Amino acid sequence: MALLALGIGENDEVIVPTLTYIASVNCIKYVGATPVFVDSDLNWQASISDIEKKITKNTKAIIVVHLYVFAAHIKEIREIANKYNISLIEDCAEAIGTKVDEKHVGNFSDVSTFSFYGNKTITTGEG
Ligand SMILES: Cc1ncc(COP(=O)(O)O)c(C=O)c1O
Repeated sequence: MALLALGIGENDEVIVPTLTYIASVNCIKYVGATPVFVDSDLNWQASISDIEKKITKNTKAIIVVHLYVFAAHIKEIREIANKYNISLIEDCAEAIGTKVDEKHVGNFSDVSTFSFYGNKTITTGEG
C-alpha cells in the first residue's frame, strides 16, 4: 500500500536492504517494480554509502528497515532521499517504540509501515 500510495510500479527501482524480512522485498515485486539490494554495515543496518552507489535514474524509493529494535541510519538516509528527490519508506515492523533523537521511528519518512503480528507487539527481538 505504501508503494502504491507513492505511485511506484513497473520500470521503477526500489532500494531495499539485503538483511530484512522478505515482506520488505515482496511488496516491491507485488507492484511490478524492481528491488535493488544494498549491503549492511557492521551494525546490520543498510549501508549509507551503498545506498548512494545504487541510485539510478529509475530509483523511485528507498525502503529502510529498522531491524530487531535498532534504528537504521534514518537521518542520513533522509538526506540522501531529499538530495535525489526519492521517496522514503520506513519499515518499522520490528521497531515499535524505537526512537531516534526522541522521535519515534516512522516519523522520518514519507510513508511508514508497522506490523501488528504478535511477535512484533509483545516480545522484544522482533518487536
Ligand atoms: C521487517 C518486517 N517487515 C514486514 C513484516 C511483515 O509484517 P506483517 O506480516 O504484519 O505484514 C515483518 C514480519 O515479520 C518484518 O519483520
